[in-house]
Formats: sequence, C-alpha cells, structure tokens
Amino acid sequence: MGKFNFDKGTSREGTYSVQYEGTDALFGRSGLEPFWIADMDIEIAEPIAEAMKNRIDNRIFGYTIWQNPKFYAAVKHWWSSRFGIELKDEEISYAPSVLFTVGEVIRQHSEEGDGVILTTPSYNAFISQLKGNGRKIVDCPFIEDEKGYQFDFEHFETLCKREDVKVYIHCNPHNPTGKVWTGSELRKIREICMANGVFLISDEIHMDFARPRSSFVSMVELMEEGDRILVTTGLGKTFNLASLPHSYFISRDKEFRRKLNQDIGSKYGMGAANSLALAAVEAAYNECGEWVDELNDHLEENFQLVEDYIDEHMSEWLTFKKPDATYLAWISFEKSGLDDDTVHKALVEIGGIAVSPGKMYDVKKNQHFRFNVASSRERIILGLGRIRKTFEEITKITKK
Ligand SMILES: Cc1ncc(COP(=O)(O)O)c(C=O)c1O
Repeated sequence: MGKFNFDKGTSREGTYSVQYEGTDALFGRSGLEPFWIADMDIEIAEPIAEAMKNRIDNRIFGYTIWQNPKFYAAVKHWWSSRFGIELKDEEISYAPSVLFTVGEVIRQHSEEGDGVILTTPSYNAFISQLKGNGRKIVDCPFIEDEKGYQFDFEHFETLCKREDVKVYIHCNPHNPTGKVWTGSELRKIREICMANGVFLISDEIHMDFARPRSSFVSMVELMEEGDRILVTTGLGKTFNLASLPHSYFISRDKEFRRKLNQDIGSKYGMGAANSLALAAVEAAYNECGEWVDELNDHLEENFQLVEDYIDEHMSEWLTFKKPDATYLAWISFEKSGLDDDTVHKALVEIGGIAVSPGKMYDVKKNQHFRFNVASSRERIILGLGRIRKTFEEITKITKK
C-alpha cells in the first residue's frame, strides 16, 4: 500500500455536483450511479487543501495578478521535473479555462462557416464548441487496428490542404480513446499544419495521466519560435479541480500570445486570476508529484480490474483494452450487435448507471460508452456489476 489512500469513500452530498446531481438533463433521471463526466471521486491532495485554507484565512479576495513569480515558478518546475521541458516565463499565460482558450483560438483563426479538423471519436465539448461557433466540423476519423488507434495522415493532409480548413484541434493524451501520441506522429502533424497554414491547438489537459509518464511528448517540445501553435492545459483533471476556473497556455507565437492575452483582459474582462486556483496551482505543482504518481498506479489497477472483469464476464458483448492514458475507459459493445439507443436506455433503466454514450463523441454512429474509473475499487466493482446486469438482461429480452 502506498502513502495515499485512493480507495477512501467520498461524498459530494450538498455540493451540487454535476456527476451526481446533473444526470437529469442527459439521462432523463436522477439517482443513477454515475461514472460519466470527467471528474474524480477522489479527494484533493493535502498540500492543495492546506494552501487553499491558508489563502482563505487572509479573507480578502480582491483582483489578483497571475503574472507573478510564484505562478511562473510552479508551472516551470512541473514541466521541468515531470517532462524535462524548460519553459520561459513569457511563454506561459493564464486563461479562464481550457475550453475558453480553445473557443477563442477558433474564433481568432477562422471565420463562421470555415472548417476545423477534429479527430473522431472526439471530446464532446469540441463538437459542441464548433457547432456553437458556427464552424464546420471536418472529421478525420481514427483507424482502429489491433495496435490501437491510428491516425490517417494521408487523409489529414488532404483535409489541411482544403481552402476552407483553418484550424486543427489536437488532443494529447486523447479523450476519449486514451491514445498517447508518439513524437514522430506529433512531428508529422506539426509539419503538415505548418506547411498548409492550419493553426494547431494542442489540448494537453490529460498530460499527467500518460502511463508511463515518460511516454508523453508535449507539442511544446516541437514548437519553434513563431509557430502558429498553442498548447492549452490546466490542473482541473490531474488534481480534481474542475470547478476552480483556471488554465494556462503555452505559445511561441509572440504576436498571437500578446493579442490573446490582451483580448482576455480587455475584450472579455477576464484578465485577473482566480486567487484560490493560483494557491492550488502553487501547492500542486511544487508538492504533489508523488501523489500524481500513486494516483496513476491506482488508475492502472482500476483499468486492469475493468479489463479482467470484461474478459471474464462480459466478453460476449464487450471489447476493452487498457488505455495508455486518462482515467476514461472507452468500451465497445459492437460485438453485442445491439444498437446504441437500446444499450444506453438499458444502462439507465436496467443498470441504474450513468456512463457517457459514445454518440456524444462522434459525428457518425458509435457503439461505445465511456466509463470513468477515477474512483475507489469498490465503486468500480459496483459499476461493472451494473453493466453486467444490463447486458445479461437486455440480451435475454432481445433474444425472446
Ligand atoms: C480534452 C479536454 N479538454 C478540456 C476539458 C475541460 O477543461 P476546462 O474545464 O479547463 O475547460 C476536458 C474535460 O473533460 C477535456 O477532457
């Protein structure tokens, strides 16, 4: 047993948690056992709680400057100690959230009606952001083979050459598949984008969940001075801080960086930092590396449990292989021959469980669901039992 207990039972009662209390909108009912939205049933690390308490003790929450030496030092320390990447202060900018940054990059680098490339399946919020901003979704689907999810470079290059295509939203590690992109894949992507004038956004919010850590290559490593690339990330996933709005981005495009910072301040009036988030960033990035390493061990064990349980009890209907990153299990029910509406209705009505329907992550038919394993072992077993019950019952009904 490690230093930290990730199997501890937790409660979100009275916190208006989307995971627990927000199932009505998507699943049509409350009281479901939830394993859907990407936050964790795991308490934050002690140094972060302490730092926030200390900040609260000051009792003044006035406007706060993010351009300060402690913030820069914490971010630089994390990137250097975790990934061996040395950043400069001026390359780092604070922003309200990762999705805000992605949305703003799209608005600044394309017009309404222009195309933005997504690799599908894709994080559902990218799909809704493109719809919400009136951009065309230009789909570059993964090709799945026995080795995993392969990127179709030929198709990607054809898409990048199109006049109407202006931006590519890249996600590394990838939500929902858990793919960790190799250095050589990233180099090719960068080259194709730069050669065709396509702005490259790399969303690396899941960067701390690449297992092993050394497998993660950030686009920052390949980014040259002046490249039209922006890397956006934050601590919302790694340290379970999604409701403390904050993020930061890294860019070596000096002019764009200046404009984006200026617009966040004067166009949107959001130039000041969330002071509790800043306190959390400092504590997390300076003191919680070991906590993240052990959390990854716990997640790896949970994924192994899911893989073994499916092999043993549900291999008739489901296919799943542990991903190389994230805490999201992308599980296929293609084998079952059941259509997605039937499965998702049954998971809710028979299983009493909320998992994310695959069709949210795609622009075409999708026979997967996403099961969040950032929880105690006990809850994962509970969830798996409910999925098993669903498939046992549904196949009895459909066979009749
Ligand atoms: C790939 C990805 N990007 C961004 C976000 C959300 O980030 P933020 O809350 O900072 O907008 C998520 C949350 O699930 C995510 O998976």
